[in-house]
Amino acid sequence: MPRPVRFSAPEARARGGGDVAALLRHPTLANAVDRALAEQRPQIADLALPVSAAQEIALRVIPMEPPLADGGRLVILLSDRTRERAVERMRADFVANASHELRTPLASLIGFIETLRGPAEDDPAARSRFLAIMAEQSERMRRLIDDLLGLSRIELNEHQPPTGAARLAEIAGAEAAALEPLLRRRRVTLAQSLDEAAVAAPADAEQLAQVVRNLLENAVRHGREGGTVQLSVARVEGGGRLPARPGVLVAVSDDGPGIPREHIPRLTERFYRVDRGRSRSAGGTGLGLAIVKHIVNRHRGLLLIESEEGSGASFRVWLPAATEG
Ligand SMILES: Nc1ncnc2c1ncn2[C@@H]1O[C@H](COP(=O)(O)OP(=O)(O)OP(=O)(O)O)[C@@H](O)[C@H]1O
Ligand SMILES: [Mg+2]
Repeated sequence: MPRPVRFSAPEARARGGGDVAALLRHPTLANAVDRALAEQRPQIADLALPVSAAQEIALRVIPMEPPLADGGRLVILLSDRTRERAVERMRADFVANASHELRTPLASLIGFIETLRGPAEDDPAARSRFLAIMAEQSERMRRLIDDLLGLSRIELNEHQPPTGAARLAEIAGAEAAALEPLLRRRRVTLAQSLDEAAVAAPADAEQLAQVVRNLLENAVRHGREGGTVQLSVARVEGGGRLPARPGVLVAVSDDGPGIPREHIPRLTERFYRVDRGRSRSAGGTGLGLAIVKHIVNRHRGLLLIESEEGSGASFRVWLPAATEG
């Protein structure tokens, strides 16, 4: 039965490939229309349109009883849900990734517990070796859970700008000092250049300390064993790749293997690691830079990553500076 279309939004015409009548013949939509007419009740359904970039449409067919003055009997509402669906998929991926990351150390713990109760029961040497691995795996799970909780806390307040000011030289100095044991373990020399006049505002000092910590840890852990890491904090006037207003620049660079160009845009994705095996053995969960990015976004700052494969990586964070007076 032909169903003339009385009115249609220009948007719907554009989305339907220019032909609303053809859209009405889509089996899902046609079905919903039939049901709405037969049952005289609103119908809802989901529809995927195979146009150039696939679109996911939520549709709602509403019967009009009595019919509209011009004879119209149905109103069809099409809403583009492509973005929401992408967000839903991202969430599902995230949960799957997080569970997978937790399952790996958990499986190893369960395995060792079984071994310790059975075959290794009377083997003190094996027992102490296994306990060391178990301690390491539980530490890994603890770190992962801390990072996940931290990330969700930061995401919750990402749209609420920080208040207060952050004296970055002080913060960076304290983080560098706290890193001493890791520096010694990796035989890394840390060169610091900290300008006391570098004060970010509005800023959350605790979050910025985490930014410095995550970047420093990466440079030491993913950089070269026995290498040198440069940490600098400075006031900058802006311009070039930086916003054209006074700011503060925190830079961390190393002389390690660097990062292949194609990976750079994806580094701030959760759980993204260039070399999964290597990062995991370095104790990484792949959340550090995701946390950095969220904090920088909250501060309306900028994260710049540069790397030449084979000759180190440089991470710079620009933040708005406190205005004097
Ligand atoms: N300075 C660096 N040099 C080389 N690769 C790096 C450097 N910093 C980060 N990367 C790469 O980027 C990836 C993501 O870093 P990120 O800090 O998000 O995770 P991680 O260090 O693996 O784990 P986490 O920080 O959660 O403990 C790392 O796994 C590593 O492959
Ligand atoms: Mg890291």
